[in-house]
Amino acid sequence: MMNLYKIVFFSCLFIISSAINNQRDFRVSTHLSGSIFENYYCGDIDGFPHFKLNYHSHCFYGANRTMDREFWNDGTSPSTFFYLYNYLDMLNLEIPQHFQEDILKLTQDWNLKRMRDILLWDKLKLDDPYGVGIDDRLWYAISFIQIQNIIDRQNKTTQNFFDLANEIFDWVGKAFENNVCGGGVFWDCDKNYKNAITNHLFIDLGTYLFEYTSDIKYIQKVRKIADWEIGVSEMLDKKDNLFIDGIYNSKNCSNKTYDKWTYNQGVYMKGYLALSDFYNDPKYKEVVFKSVETITQNKNQFHHNRLQFIPYLSDQHFVILKEYENRDQGETRATFKGIYMRYLGSVYLYSLKDSSQESQQIKQYIEKYVTDNFNYVFPLADKKDSYPFLWNHQTPKLFQTFTAGTTTTVLDLFTLYDFIVAVNKNQQKNNIQQQ
Ligand SMILES: *[C@@H]1O[C@H](CO)[C@@H](O)[C@H](O)[C@H]1NC(C)=O
Ligand SMILES: *[C@@H]1O[C@H](CO)[C@@H](O)[C@H](O)[C@H]1NC(C)=O
Ligand SMILES: *[C@@H]1O[C@H](CO)[C@@H](O)[C@H](O)[C@H]1NC(C)=O
Ligand SMILES: *[C@@H]1O[C@H](CO)[C@@H](O)[C@H](O)[C@H]1NC(C)=O
Repeated sequence: MMNLYKIVFFSCLFIISSAINNQRDFRVSTHLSGSIFENYYCGDIDGFPHFKLNYHSHCFYGANRTMDREFWNDGTSPSTFFYLYNYLDMLNLEIPQHFQEDILKLTQDWNLKRMRDILLWDKLKLDDPYGVGIDDRLWYAISFIQIQNIIDRQNKTTQNFFDLANEIFDWVGKAFENNVCGGGVFWDCDKNYKNAITNHLFIDLGTYLFEYTSDIKYIQKVRKIADWEIGVSEMLDKKDNLFIDGIYNSKNCSNKTYDKWTYNQGVYMKGYLALSDFYNDPKYKEVVFKSVETITQNKNQFHHNRLQFIPYLSDQHFVILKEYENRDQGETRATFKGIYMRYLGSVYLYSLKDSSQESQQIKQYIEKYVTDNFNYVFPLADKKDSYPFLWNHQTPKLFQTFTAGTTTTVLDLFTLYDFIVAVNKNQQKNNIQQQ
């Protein structure tokens, strides 16, 4: 059930890329993907996919038999592989056999009936392994619609992932969206905080569902949430076009959390670009473009919050894997920048089909930024055990943990880098052919 828009877009890419006929550009990312499956993927736990947290830990249970997992991360990590799959597919490259098998292995494990019972239940206890987060459920829903798109392209009849993604979207809208603080959806079942990530994810899911069904009810909802995000919520800082974390439902909604996490600057972008196209209104696209400029040109002015890719003032290098605070080295945040890379990829795709000068400038920014990050990370990576460091420059490598989160984030970076290289090489080829 692809809509026209998507067919046109995919065919364009197939045409520009038809000259590429080898696998070379993606060798590093597909290798790393295989290594992640070998070293971190545990199969399912209670019907959900599970990536163990670090190289040396056991699958499923950590010390003291507590559940050793990041529930939300198990929901979004599959997306890393779906992005890689999509880039290969768009470029008409052969999908390596082992990679095909890994994708299959990943999705066959999912028990949708069990997932539905858990994901649509709003009375989860804080101390259980699933938590009360609405954002967590949305990460899963986005993975569902992404895998549905892949399954449809392969003409495979298997589990129906669309229905559950759709059901989660409806449920979040009914149970967690309201006019408190002027609009938006709550972060969790406790309903006292509205944050950027949950609303961004709701936007992203709505955008996917709109693309999948062409039903405008989804894009209307996306617009409503986006207008709130950039309007009365004051979650978008107009000075740099970066999103703060969120708003407490108290003190007239004036109690806010001002951290600007990397992933919050990414997850909304695909949705905002779709809004600008559908409503022919540049204001959404401008937020995206200005934000990408802030980040890639390092124009962020927050001395207390260095935010992006320079972890310490004394370190002039780009480092992709650290959030801004030295003490923040938890696994929870290890994937933030990888998530940012995925959505930066959607802006890059947009710049390939939009020839405006503005888009072409953004395309160059992204290419340089991704290349700089790749060039910094690649030589540092431990190629034997793939690329799994917790990137804390203050401790010797010996004490650093090899984690699934940092490894998938590096895969997100390498994947986008490989795609950029392939696209440019192909454009060069086309130029030569035209001469
Ligand atoms: C292990 O579990 C017991 C019982 O719940 C608890 O008292 C103890 O603090 C736990 N130990 C660790 C290291 O988490
Ligand atoms: C999927 O099925 C359609 C309709 O039967 C067919 O045109 C298309 O070539 C198939 N695609 C693949 C990848 O098999
Ligand atoms: C909330 O806003 C109202 C109306 O502007 C004001 O009267 C009230 O003092 C505010 N309350 C707080 C806690 O700021
Ligand atoms: C904001 O709300 C949080 C959560 O309720 C609370 O811990 C914090 O003290 C509040 N901050 C202010 C300035 O009121």
